[in-house]
Amino acid sequence: MNANTNKLRTLQAMGLGPVWQLRGRAAPVALHTDIGVGGEVVDGVEDVDIAAMDFDQLQAAIKNCTRCRLCEGRTHAVPGNGSQKATWLFIGEAPGHNEDLQGQPFVGPAGKLLDNMMQALRLQRDVQTYVTNIVKCRPRGSDGHDRLPAAGEIAACMPYLEREIALIKPSVIVALGKTAAASLLGSDAGAAMSDMREQSYQYAQVPLVVTYHPAYLLRSPVDKAKVWRDLCAAKSIVDVR
Ligand code: URA
Repeated sequence: MNANTNKLRTLQAMGLGPVWQLRGRAAPVALHTDIGVGGEVVDGVEDVDIAAMDFDQLQAAIKNCTRCRLCEGRTHAVPGNGSQKATWLFIGEAPGHNEDLQGQPFVGPAGKLLDNMMQALRLQRDVQTYVTNIVKCRPRGSDGHDRLPAAGEIAACMPYLEREIALIKPSVIVALGKTAAASLLGSDAGAAMSDMREQSYQYAQVPLVVTYHPAYLLRSPVDKAKVWRDLCAAKSIVDVR
């Protein structure tokens, strides 16, 4: 078990990890200050308040979020975008450089490939899909490059994703890449994609399909056929619902 998995388990044991049920209606938004594991969960809107937000409130809360320290280095927080009535929910890892600058998910090279995948499925991004990320602010290493989100950052951001799913009620969730899959399935961050793909899962009672991240496909186009198989499996789920 690596350090991130340990952290995630500790956070879950503390009740800070992913909670798949929608919580009850809440009182007006309050602030809390928790000292998170690794110092990540710092200050911000309470989980229970996020669980009661409507779409506009949720987008505004994400844009102004201070629940973890990623807010300190961001240009923009990046809420999901697409249709609020989407049947397909695509979940990536985290915004990169382009997304941080524009405040929109999947607008860089990986986003262009995702657009092409949607076109191949005859999906219009703004009509049948909603695209979001596990964490909504760009994780940047001390070298200035993108890095993986830390367990505490994922835990701090997860209530936003839970609320996006509860509001959209998609017919299928497509987890793009290992971070999305492992975060949603609670699996070991070291789990191999080959073990996670081609299995039946549910998240918040929605069927979940795991596939490779478009950024990985840009590096390994040979795996495009596998992604196409995964997307066809997702399409067959949507078509019967
Ligand atoms: N990679 C992701 O996982 N998400 C984005 O929004 C962009 C690139």
